[in-house]
Order: sequence, then structure tokens, then C-alpha cells
Amino acid sequence: MSDEAVSAREVESGDDPDSIGTSWVAEAGRKLRAHSSAEPMIRAEALERTFGSGSAKSRAVAGVSFEVMPQEVVLLFGPSGSGKSTLLALIGGLDRQYTGQLSLFGKDLATLSDKELSHLRGERIGFVFQAFHLLDHVSVLDNVQAPGLFANPPLSDAQARARRALERVGLADKAGARPSELSGGQRQRVAIARALLRQPELLLCDEPTGNLDRQTGESIIDLFAELHAELGTTFVIVTHEHRLDRIASRTLHLEDGRLVKNETSATNAEEDA
Ligand SMILES: Nc1ncnc2c1ncn2[C@@H]1O[C@H](COP(=O)(O)OP(=O)(O)O)[C@@H](O)[C@H]1O
Ligand SMILES: [Mg+2]
Repeated sequence: MSDEAVSAREVESGDDPDSIGTSWVAEAGRKLRAHSSAEPMIRAEALERTFGSGSAKSRAVAGVSFEVMPQEVVLLFGPSGSGKSTLLALIGGLDRQYTGQLSLFGKDLATLSDKELSHLRGERIGFVFQAFHLLDHVSVLDNVQAPGLFANPPLSDAQARARRALERVGLADKAGARPSELSGGQRQRVAIARALLRQPELLLCDEPTGNLDRQTGESIIDLFAELHAELGTTFVIVTHEHRLDRIASRTLHLEDGRLVKNETSATNAEEDA
């Protein structure tokens, strides 16, 4: 979409429900334009994470270097235990116990205070995990808006944003339901809506289709493809399944914590040009 089209839509968007989709796209467009596409969004250099000490010491991430550019869809691929989740937690600023260099949005994570890092995480990164971590005693809408209510400062429009996010993942009609009343695929969509609440530029997903049957998993992959196309969201997706290949611009192959291959996809790599 052109800048003009985005601006025109911004002007039109108000509070009426028909504008939900357009204001959503407009906000994503603003964020995209604010971001310099020449700068890597993620930059890791000789990144290492060890657990334990002495003879029990193990290197879960054993010195990896790579970059992720804005709007890429990058898979972290590898067998169980190869360090994918550990690397994703580092990338998301959830785990600071690393050596080497790690920059996010052009900022060296080592130079940020815990408070600055948590602010950056909340504002710019969304997380989607294999286990949905939804609260079962509250509604779907409350689950989605929760991160906005607990933010510092809280989002004044958390509920409106939550409704938009639910609309976006096709679950507007389930806002009042309890998560336990939903199917696995619907619960994963709720978790995705929650991750989208603050319109993150970067979505980090750990085996997002891992608990889903094949067809439901496909619909989640389709949803990621749509979000990428419409919002320009950058994705880093942990998987050990090949079916995510169709949306990937690049695949980082991990084995025993090492990056053994950094593979650009032939068909999905137009963003790399
Ligand atoms: N909190 C932890 N304490 C000790 N070892 C861990 C911890 N988290 C992960 N590991 C170890 O690090 C290695 C990589 O784990 P992980 O990143 O979860 O792999 P993957 O996500 O690829 O299955 C494994 O050997 C795992 O046992
Ligand atoms: Mg894992």
C-alpha cells in the first residue's frame, strides 16, 4: 500500500466498527515508515548462552552470528534440544545471561537497563508460544487486553485494541467466551491476538503450530502470512516442521547450539532485495 493510501485511510478511520481493519493497517503503516529498512532489526554476534557450571556446563547457544532485517520471516529450525527456544528467549530480551553481542532495533541490549529492556519488549515485540498460557477464568477479551492493562503506563485503549486484534484473527464473536470453550486453533488465535495488542514490529513465535492438528496448523501459518503481508510484521519462528518453509524468507538451521546453515529461501526472499 502506498503512503497516500495509508494516510487517506487514517483520515477516514474513526470509532465505527467498519474502520477496525483500516485503522489497524494505518498504524502498522506508520510504524513501518518510521523504521529504517537498511538497519538490521536483530543483530547477533558470537552469541552464547551456557547453563550449569563445571563439568555440568552446557552450551545451549554456542556462538551464533546472524542478522534479521525488518519484514523478514526467519525460521529457527533444528531438532529438539538444538537451542531454538534458548535463542528465541535471548532475541526477545527475556534472558540476559549471554555473552557476545546482541542488538535489537539498533540498540545493544547490554547497554539497556532492565526497565528500558522491558519497555522495549512491551512496545515493540510480541510473543507467541506453543503452550498458549491463557487465563482460563477470564474471558477471551480480558486475556487479549491483559498485557495492555498491566503495562506501565497502562494502555487507555486496551479494550478497543483487544477488540481490533480479535477481529484481525477472526475471533470477534468469541470475545466473551472463556478460553476453555474454544478449540486449540482458536486458543492459538487468541494468543496471537494478545501478542498483536500493541502492534509489535517483531513477532517471536516458539513452535506456534506444535500443539495443533495439521489443518489447524495450516490456518495459523496462513494467518502469519496475512499479518506479514498486511502489517509488514517481522517474524522469527521456532519450528522443527518443514511446512512453515512456504512463508519463510530465510531459515537459520541450528544443531547443538551452533548455526550450521543460514539459508535464504528462493521463493519468499523478495524482502531481501
Ligand atoms: N533452564 C535451563 N537449564 C538448563 N539447561 C537448559 C535450560 N534451558 C535449556 N537448556 C538446555 O539447553 C539445550 C537447548 O534447549 P532448548 O533451547 O530448549 O532447545 P530446543 O528449543 O531447540 O528444543 C538443551 O540441551 C536443554 O536441555
Ligand atoms: Mg524449544
